[in-house]
Amino acid sequence: MPEQGRLTVINVVGGRPNFVKIAPLMEALQPLRDIRRLLVHTGQHYDHEMSRAFFEDLEIPEPDFFLGVGSGSHAQQTAKVIVEFEKVVQEVRPDLVVVVGDLNSTLACALVAAKLLIPVAHVEAGLRSFDRTMAEEINRTLTDHVSDYLFTPSADADDNLVREGIPSAKIFCVGNVMIDTLRKYEPMARARQAAAALGLAPRTYALLTLHRPSNVDDPAAFERILRGLEAMLPRCPVVFPVHPRTRRRLAEFGLEKRLERLGNLRLCAPLSYLAFVSLLMESRFVMTDSGGIQEETTALGVPCLTLRENTERPITAELGTNRVIGTHPDRIATEAARLLDGDERRGQVPPLWDGKAALRIVDVLRRHPVPSEVAP
Ligand code: UD1
Repeated sequence: MPEQGRLTVINVVGGRPNFVKIAPLMEALQPLRDIRRLLVHTGQHYDHEMSRAFFEDLEIPEPDFFLGVGSGSHAQQTAKVIVEFEKVVQEVRPDLVVVVGDLNSTLACALVAAKLLIPVAHVEAGLRSFDRTMAEEINRTLTDHVSDYLFTPSADADDNLVREGIPSAKIFCVGNVMIDTLRKYEPMARARQAAAALGLAPRTYALLTLHRPSNVDDPAAFERILRGLEAMLPRCPVVFPVHPRTRRRLAEFGLEKRLERLGNLRLCAPLSYLAFVSLLMESRFVMTDSGGIQEETTALGVPCLTLRENTERPITAELGTNRVIGTHPDRIATEAARLLDGDERRGQVPPLWDGKAALRIVDVLRRHPVPSEVAP
């Protein structure tokens, strides 16, 4: 980015995982007098607990533009974001658009900017599950290929990008912005004592999250996971904050009653960031199909069982506390029992997951001018 003049940077968010990633960047950009920092919320997530609650907990400023796209098929959602975001970019003529993560909103906004010859920075670039059945894999791959700055969380992501032919001059390994947020809010989350509020002592319960279409949109797949859960519940209570997609599927598949009957299972609405991290840090272990939670558990040293066949975050399994175990009920029960019997991996926190990733991003933007072929 050139040094002179006041530059306009549009930061984009669409849904829950994006908020956690943009918060430290907004903070890092805030004191820079030569940068006009704008925030666009596409409205992909709109429920209070999926959106507003995160703005409050993470002290994110009000969006300058709210696109209100809401839910829909992938085509509808992506198309609506493209149409609405193009209007914003044409009005504002930013010098840079920053997108984070792998949501439909991420790809849509990156595409709009690239086609209007506005430089794009992708934060959390280079992650690959090598599983094209995940919408996120398509979103992250295409976003990377139209971006000018690729900010990666770990060296494996750099390797993926180089293998795909992306010039290494565009790739900057800066660490993990999600961990910036975690480090900042860890003390506040600890003080929240969310487990105590549920009558649970630290390290006596497990935490479960599920929302991947492959796990919750197919009744047979969802049912298999529930069987694994049923097998482990007698040994350990489980807290399950239910994502809106998952809540809808439970109702559609007639599984709500079955879950409610499980004595040791605590169902609740999606939690705010501080309440969730509070439960996470005090849990005995976590079961999840989320991407970000694999990283947060590794950073906190909490054991994590990933209920998927693959991960785009292999470093959490290589260095951290993550085990990618699939979704077979017997395997879920066995791996949970293993952890309850004390067979835990201590793990290490990956390099550069130190709470300073956003500062490194700003530093790179200052030191590396926009590539000339895209400079407006
Ligand atoms: C999206 C992301 C996924 C991310 C997840 C985190 C894509 C393709 N997927 O999946 O990568 O891990 O967010 O939550 O971008 N809904 C509500 N209220 C809301 C938001 C959603 O009721 O505030 C319901 C709607 O019925 C919607 C469904 O949840 O159809 C799915 O929402 P959507 O944003 O399409 O995808 P997620 O499953 O949330």
